Amino acid sequence: MEIIETIDGMRKAIAKAKSTGKKIGLVPTMGALHAGHISLVKAAKKETDFAVVSIFVNPTQFGPTEDIDKYPRPFEADRKACKDSGVDIVFAPTVKEMYPQQNITWVNVEKLSEPLCGKTRPIHFRGVATVCTKLFNIVQPDIAFFGQKDAQQTVVIKQMVADLNMPLKIVVCPTVREKDGLAMSSRNKYLNAEQRKDAPLLYAALQEAEVFIGAGERKSSFLKEQMKKLLSISSRTEIDYISIADAKTLEEIDEIKGKILIAMAVKLGPARLIDNIVLDVE
Ligand code: PAJ
Repeated sequence: MEIIETIDGMRKAIAKAKSTGKKIGLVPTMGALHAGHISLVKAAKKETDFAVVSIFVNPTQFGPTEDIDKYPRPFEADRKACKDSGVDIVFAPTVKEMYPQQNITWVNVEKLSEPLCGKTRPIHFRGVATVCTKLFNIVQPDIAFFGQKDAQQTVVIKQMVADLNMPLKIVVCPTVREKDGLAMSSRNKYLNAEQRKDAPLLYAALQEAEVFIGAGERKSSFLKEQMKKLLSISSRTEIDYISIADAKTLEEIDEIKGKILIAMAVKLGPARLIDNIVLDVE
């Protein structure tokens, strides 16, 4: 496994791999790798011949009061996890390498970046779309792999790739969870023991909504109320949003029908946790 820190070095390595006909898979990450990330690596290994993992804590997707400084950066453990799972190249550029000058060119996916997480993180998806464009230009993957855990991110990236005719396929892999249902996340490290105990409430609320829908409930307002009640079992949860939206447009719906995204962001102490499920309802 090679570790490459420069864009030039990356371009050369990719040119070499492509010259031997290799199909390139990219897994963009911010590091602090866990089983969720590794599931994307496994998918990349299965569907392509050359797996690249990028590790870059991207400053342009963090707001001024967000956690960029304390975001975990366990590079040695990440390197080992990549090596153990058969990654070909880890691309780990510095901020200076990725943003050598003040960035004034942005990729902004309108509408889809605004609701849900976009409401409290207004520049987040602009930063994500911009850095993914840069990574796609540098690595030139045939397929890039993303997790369903960040549902809005997948919708934004798919739209961007379609709108800008980017020559790659986006594959979305299922959310990997802890045994108690908590979606794995690098930010789970911020939780203390009590907060960690409450964290499975997010998935429990999503599952409750699914059960209600299975039993015939079709009113979003009722479902949101039930989820709110369940989350409020803990006094430590602070709901940022609960959304029931069309899975493609991310527009809120009143009546459950078609392919829907049920998503939430909940603050638990220092961590802002997100989770979601997608359902296809007759
Ligand atoms: P990061 O949070 O490190 O996540 C990297 C990828 O892993 C994303 O596609 C995310 O959805 C996926 N992932 C995280 N937790 C997961 C889980 N429990 N199950 C399955 N997949 C999971 O998302 C980002 O980084 C950044 O925004 C990035 C795309 C790298 C751009 O900077």
